[in-house]
Amino acid sequence: MSAVYESEKLLAEYLLFHFGTADEILPGDRTWPTGMREALDFAIRTPGHFSSTVVKRGLDLGCAVGRSAFEMSANCDEVIGIDFSHAFIRAAEALRKGESLAFNRREEATISTRLQARISNDIDGNKLRFFQGDAMNLPESTGSFDRVHAANLLCRLPEPKRLLDRLPSLVNAGGELVLATPCTWLEEFTPQENWPITGTFEWLQQALTPAFTLLRRVEEPFLIRETARKFQWTTSLVTVWQRGAQG
Ligand SMILES: C[S@@+](CC[C@H](N)C(=O)[O-])C[C@H]1O[C@@H](n2cnc3c(N)ncnc32)[C@H](O)[C@@H]1O
Repeated sequence: MSAVYESEKLLAEYLLFHFGTADEILPGDRTWPTGMREALDFAIRTPGHFSSTVVKRGLDLGCAVGRSAFEMSANCDEVIGIDFSHAFIRAAEALRKGESLAFNRREEATISTRLQARISNDIDGNKLRFFQGDAMNLPESTGSFDRVHAANLLCRLPEPKRLLDRLPSLVNAGGELVLATPCTWLEEFTPQENWPITGTFEWLQQALTPAFTLLRRVEEPFLIRETARKFQWTTSLVTVWQRGAQG
């Protein structure tokens, strides 16, 4: 699997993506298109698709540096975050323990700005745990969950179907599932024979029904700042599912 998510560069980009303020990502010294502003806070908006009742257990797969897992903890007694990157999990665990993490926001060439990431005082870090692990090989001891979130993960897996096949046993009866994917299928991460043939949405429907019922399908834009003038401005297909009472 790709080691790209272990790099200092990606760690800094994801700390900014998940924990940067609007002004840190889009500084006020110039005018930005409205659409770029609307793409902020993706890691908050995707868990926002869960219902607002309080449940016992939540899981964020491919959690990166943890922002969505922290958000899920507002309505879950316990949240587990799992990511394949050791560097991302170390950062998420440090933030969970209340540490402030310094990182460089790259401007251009060798010029960067030192920033700090930290979680809000409202978050109870004791409700969360972050583990390094493989979403395609989750051990039975992971247990099952009332809410499972996996954002922008599927098209980074070599065998995404293995995760889809595991979901019915991972989500409790009546539980909720939020999947987000920008459908950016690349040979670098997923061999072409494992890409959806008929389109990602149809592929998800085929894999998840009848165990799950589709509640909603929306688009959520996101913005990852690489330098002062270079951004990834993308839209993710978000599908919200409910696991049936059985099956
Ligand atoms: C595009 S990022 C998305 C991160 C985060 N969910 C978000 O929306 O910002 C993909 C994430 O999946 C993680 N990842 C890749 N392969 C994985 C695997 N087999 N198991 C768990 N996580 C994986 C990467 O380390 C990275 O954090």
